Amino acid sequence: MSIESLAQAAFLVAALLFILALAGLSKHETAKAGNAYGMTGMAVALVATIALAIDRNIDSLGLILIGVAMVVGAAVGLWRARVVEMTGMPELIAILHSFVGLAAVLVGWNGYLLVEGGGSPEEIALLTAEGTLGIHSAEVFIGVFIGAVTFTGSIVAYGKLSGRLKSNPLMLPGKNALNIGALVVFVALTVWFVIDPALWLLIVVTIVALALGWHLVASIGGGDMPVVVSMLNSYSGWAAAAAGFLLGNDLLIVTGALVGSSGAYLSYIMCKAMNRSFISVIAGGFGIEAGPGEDKDYGDHREVTAAETAELLRNARSVIITPGYGMAVAQAQYGVAELTRKLRENGTTVRFGIHPVAGRLPGHMNVLLAEAKVPYDIVLEMDEINDDFEDTDVVLVIGANDTVNPAAETDPGSPIAGMPVLRVWNASDVIVFKRSMASGYAGVQNPLFFNENSAMLFGDAKDRVDDIVRAL
Ligand code: TAP
Repeated sequence: MSIESLAQAAFLVAALLFILALAGLSKHETAKAGNAYGMTGMAVALVATIALAIDRNIDSLGLILIGVAMVVGAAVGLWRARVVEMTGMPELIAILHSFVGLAAVLVGWNGYLLVEGGGSPEEIALLTAEGTLGIHSAEVFIGVFIGAVTFTGSIVAYGKLSGRLKSNPLMLPGKNALNIGALVVFVALTVWFVIDPALWLLIVVTIVALALGWHLVASIGGGDMPVVVSMLNSYSGWAAAAAGFLLGNDLLIVTGALVGSSGAYLSYIMCKAMNRSFISVIAGGFGIEAGPGEDKDYGDHREVTAAETAELLRNARSVIITPGYGMAVAQAQYGVAELTRKLRENGTTVRFGIHPVAGRLPGHMNVLLAEAKVPYDIVLEMDEINDDFEDTDVVLVIGANDTVNPAAETDPGSPIAGMPVLRVWNASDVIVFKRSMASGYAGVQNPLFFNENSAMLFGDAKDRVDDIVRAL
């Protein structure tokens, strides 16, 4: 059997392993196996690709370049994966998406320089006679466009998630017209490029797409970033698929389509969970207008101590804990698990209410609580617990902010208006653990902190939880 057909068979095996990886990752019991399938699939794909390159008589410089790229890539990948904190995961994913986008742009440009821009007149004449030149040009153009949008979009997402860029939405005048205009220009230029593949057209579409990617993500507010990350995940898949068409690589097409469609589906699920219009988010916040400024006076807040909170908890029959990003930052989950155990021993009913976008990545809180061995059966999703706050004595809001903000329900001008939130304010007492009166990720003030039945317990969440455990 030739190397060519062996490599194609290996690609098929790798594609199946990637499908098994996705299936495995959908449940936490099978997630480890899913990761193992994914890694095996990637190893098979890499070996087959290199074997194929050798079979196609790649020169020694090419082989050295592949070797160097693999060593550098593996070293950087291993280093980043080892040092990244759980809270830094979304920004790492965002920057990795930008690499996929950049790779698709480079593959597209390379395709152009080899064929339309650099092919001999005989080759071009042959491709034109076969009718495949136009298809190649369309692949180049579309691949470069999707890749460039993904590239700059992911860089802005990285900046927003890591706090290097402000998380509030950029509101350029006529922003919807700008986005639609860019799409219309892209379609028109694609037709032109297929008819006459001139270099300047490729340069223009690259610039338009880079600007569009930047603008699309910059226009989306902090609260909607989870959807943006999964949307860019989807775009990176389509960019990879487009590169696969250009390179004639079936595995890249299959893998790109898997990533593209699963990312699109995840974005759809997240939009539903956050009561956002899918179309509006993928169109860069289409139809969302800026709300009034943050100059409202909410009155005074009340503070409590850890000892007073311990006393309150000792007398409570039912307690709900709603964790958020701050619990992850403080690594307070172990103390929270210990507190839960103590309260349950005392006969108190303790449950957790998990918002679908609490923290910085899907399932963030569930992972942390599982790590600290909090029993699964008391960890409930928002929809399962939202009606129970009325009958609850004490709610502990541990490092959560946007996910418990009543303004989402009461203030139509708020950037998070319409997003479903945990209705913690319905409980008899609400204790909010945070370090200051600073706003949450979406950058909006939280009226909950100023309610009569709310009290602030300032300080690092881990320290304060440990204080309470000691006092109990
Ligand atoms: P946030 O709204 O981000 O608020 C977290 C709060 O934790 C902050 O107000 C902060 O206040 C406090 N905090 C930080 N470090 C702390 C520490 N060491 N000890 C105590 N408190 C600390 O959290 P959330 O309610 O979990 O909401 C998540 C937000 O992130 C949403 O807007 C969501 O859309 C967005 N987002 C989510 C995802 C996913 S998929 N989950 C991805 C990207 C973005 P202080 O600074 O005053 O302490």
